[in-house]
Amino acid sequence: MHEDLNAQHTIVTGGASGIGAAVVADLKARGHVVTVFDLQPSPDASVTSLAVDVTDEQAVAEAVAAAEARSGVVTGVVACHGIRGSYVPALDLDLTAVRRVYDIHVVGTLAVCREVVRRLGGRAASMVLISSTTAYGGWVNQSDYGPAKAAVRQLAQNLAIEWAPLGVRVNAVAPGHTRTPMVQSLIDGGYDVVQVEARMPLGRLAEPDEMARSITALLCDATFVTGQCLPVDGGWTAVGK
Ligand SMILES: NC(=O)c1ccc[n+]([C@@H]2O[C@H](COP(=O)([O-])OP(=O)(O)OC[C@H]3O[C@@H](n4cnc5c(N)ncnc54)[C@H](O)[C@@H]3O)[C@@H](O)[C@H]2O)c1
Repeated sequence: MHEDLNAQHTIVTGGASGIGAAVVADLKARGHVVTVFDLQPSPDASVTSLAVDVTDEQAVAEAVAAAEARSGVVTGVVACHGIRGSYVPALDLDLTAVRRVYDIHVVGTLAVCREVVRRLGGRAASMVLISSTTAYGGWVNQSDYGPAKAAVRQLAQNLAIEWAPLGVRVNAVAPGHTRTPMVQSLIDGGYDVVQVEARMPLGRLAEPDEMARSITALLCDATFVTGQCLPVDGGWTAVGK
C-alpha cells in the first residue's frame, strides 16, 4: 500500500503558534488541506481551526469527525501541540503540573493519532510526533518535560510497528531550541540563550520554518521511514562532551 501524497487532509495539533503554525504554512504550500486542533484559534483564516484540548478524548473524537465531515478523511497528522515544563529542580516540582505535562504531550498525542487511525477505512497515512532534544540524556530542571518527550519518542516506535500493517507510518522529530513563543517564555524567565548558542554546533537557535521543513519532509517524502526520531537540532545531540 502506497501513500497518496497529493490532496492529503492533515491535522496539525498546536497549529496556531510556533512550529505548528510554520508546519501549517508548509503543508499548504505542498497542497494539503489542513485542519488545526488547538486551544487557541489559528491566525491563518484560510485553514479550518477547531478548539480542541487534545487530552479530552471525547472532544478529540468529535473534532476528528467534524474535520472529516468538512474536508474528507484525514491521512496526515503532525502532533505539534505542547506546553513547556515548570523549569524548576525535581525537588520543587508540583506533581499536578507534572501530570498535566505528561497528559498533554503523551496521552494527547496518542488520543489524536489513534482516533485518526480508527477512521482510516484501509487508507494509508503518515504521522509525525514532536519529541525534543530533552529526550536525549539528562537535563537540569527538565524532569517533567524531558521524560514526557522521551515517552513521545518511544510512542512513535510503538505506534509505527503496530500500524505498519495498516499502511500507517509514524515518526518523530526532536526539535532543538527554536524561536517560538514557548522558548521566548523561557528566555523571558532568565533562560541563558547565550550559553545555548555557544554549545550549539550551528551557533544559533532554529527558526520555526526550517523546523517545519524537516517535519513535512518526514511526513510526506520519506516514504520508507517509520519508527524513527530525527533530531533537528543544529548538531546539539551530536556533541560528545
Ligand atoms: N520551541 C522549541 O525550542 C521546542 C523544542 C523542542 C520541542 N518543542 C515542541 O514542539 C512543539 C511546538 O512547540 P512551540 O515551541 O511551537 O510552542 P508554542 O507554545 O508556540 O505552540 C504550542 C501550541 O500548542 C497548543 N496547545 C497547548 N496545549 C494544548 C492542548 N492541551 N490541546 C491543544 N493544543 C494545545 C498551544 O495553544 C499552542 O498554540 C511542542 O510539542 C514543544 O514541546 C519545541
